[in-house]
Amino acid sequence: MKQLNWGNTHVQTSAVALGIMRMLNLTSDQAANVLDQVQAMGVTHIDSADIYGVGQSETIFGEALKKSAVSRDDLFIQSKGGIVPDPQKSSGDVVLGQRYDFSKQHLLAAVDGILQRMQLDYLDAFLLHRPDALMEPDEIAAAFDSLHQSGKVRYFGVSNFNPQQVELVQAATSQKLMANQLQFGVMHTGPIQFGLHTNMTDAPSVNHDGGIIEYSRLHQMTIQAWSPYQYGLFAGSFIDNPKFPALNQELQTLADKYGVTKNAIATAWILRHPAHMQVILGSMNPQHLRESIAGSDVTLTKQEWYDVYLAAGNDLP
Ligand SMILES: NC(=O)c1ccc[n+]([C@@H]2O[C@H](COP(=O)([O-])OP(=O)(O)OC[C@H]3O[C@@H](n4cnc5c(N)ncnc54)[C@H](OP(=O)(O)O)[C@@H]3O)[C@@H](O)[C@H]2O)c1
Repeated sequence: MKQLNWGNTHVQTSAVALGIMRMLNLTSDQAANVLDQVQAMGVTHIDSADIYGVGQSETIFGEALKKSAVSRDDLFIQSKGGIVPDPQKSSGDVVLGQRYDFSKQHLLAAVDGILQRMQLDYLDAFLLHRPDALMEPDEIAAAFDSLHQSGKVRYFGVSNFNPQQVELVQAATSQKLMANQLQFGVMHTGPIQFGLHTNMTDAPSVNHDGGIIEYSRLHQMTIQAWSPYQYGLFAGSFIDNPKFPALNQELQTLADKYGVTKNAIATAWILRHPAHMQVILGSMNPQHLRESIAGSDVTLTKQEWYDVYLAAGNDLP
């Protein structure tokens, strides 16, 4: 398993992480089996959020970790907070927010809830899940300091933030923001596309993300790519999907060359980017996980990387 440095630190973590958003649908025995299997494949990084399954994913994880052979200290466990689910519209894996809340009171309570559900003494990292339009940077800074001083959280980061939003928070806190979790992958190439279309006026030249890849590289923030095999917003997987024949043909050609599956090539495509990104897998199917993790041992050539980019429907101006 390829390793990467966490943010600007020398802390090493696995380039492929397990996201537990879908863990709510497993028994704790099944989840323990998933933890054992991915650890055997070199995955040491866990991603969660307090809203997954309205907390149920973290409860299952906490029980599963106790039943598994995995030691807590061998894992880098992160979770996210700052979204308040609407109780009327949220249950199971359908979670809709009623507001975002980065108040100190909410963030402290969020971390306490996470630690309780996951049966942990501390989190390796806590991320702000989605930018709160009403965020007060000083309150966030106070919450981060309190969480760090109490030993409940080691590192901090954000998710779905643009560079200006990162700057706004970073300017207020002495805690370095180590990571930004973004939707990125073969079918989510926006942050790359606009850069290739710089100085043009066509649709791909629109900058939706503020140059977040370049910003993250300059500031040594780890980009964590969420939903690496999805298209749209949870519209489904593009793997073996007849809607994407050219992409699947290209992935299969490379899979055959490297003796892996299409999932592995989609993983390798993200890891090939020199920003040293981390891939967050969401499957709970051990076979799909094994196939996806195998991509961490594949290094695509530059031409292969561009071939996949073009097969996904992009162009080069
Ligand atoms: N920061 C954020 O805003 C944010 C948002 C969403 C998610 N996340 C994080 O990202 C993680 C991953 O998200 P995700 O679950 O959407 O990612 P994903 O790994 O791209 O998608 C997993 C889904 O793809 C399916 N899949 C994978 N390989 C497949 C194959 N070969 N054929 C058919 N289906 C396949 C899986 O089905 P099977 O279960 O059958 O394998 C599962 O339904 C989450 O757990 C969470 O930690 C973060």
